Amino acid sequence: MTVKIRNASTKDISSILFIENNCFLSEKISQRQLIYLLTKGKCIVLVGEKYSKIVSYCIYLKPTLPKPARLYSIAVLENFRGKGIAKQLITYGLKNIILLGYNRIRLEVRSSELNVQKIYTQMGFEVICKLPSYYENSKEGLRMELNLKK
Ligand SMILES: CC(C)(COP(=O)(O)OP(=O)(O)OC[C@H]1O[C@@H](n2cnc3c(N)ncnc32)[C@H](O)[C@@H]1OP(=O)(O)O)[C@@H](O)C(=O)NCCC(=O)NCCS
Repeated sequence: MTVKIRNASTKDISSILFIENNCFLSEKISQRQLIYLLTKGKCIVLVGEKYSKIVSYCIYLKPTLPKPARLYSIAVLENFRGKGIAKQLITYGLKNIILLGYNRIRLEVRSSELNVQKIYTQMGFEVICKLPSYYENSKEGLRMELNLKK
């Protein structure tokens, strides 16, 4: 299923928070944090639309080079999952990140979330280290990296 991908603006805050609240149980992005990201953050916030409705979003952080870019968050509404929407958002975002001159991009994922790791592995990300107690309740994370110059 193809989605229309565009840069988000502050007009999209309620749609993005709706997705956030429906897709994550903990460690959700707050309204305050989202406003900061959309107005002052060094980041790219993308939304994916279907039938003029926002069904997914994705946030990339852009630290000062030569630090690696970071895929900070991605979510797709439950009814729209398994249709390749996350992969479209990642592919679109990576093109922008490469154009900005980044050589590498990193992300963190829960060690227990094998389905999510599978998507990143399919996109070429590799595990570079374990992050003990990275998440709430001392849950372990994995840091994954994609070499964009390969
Ligand atoms: C992780 C997430 C963004 C994936 O979005 P998506 O649009 O379903 O992903 P895609 O369709 O592009 O790719 C999904 C791949 O994993 C499989 N998959 C993962 N979750 C799935 C689901 N809920 N239903 C069906 N397939 C799923 C698909 O089979 C596909 O693999 P394939 O290409 O080999 O068939 C989405 O499940 C989600 O929003 N989860 C909750 C939030 C989250 O955990 N975000 C990531 C951490 S920040």
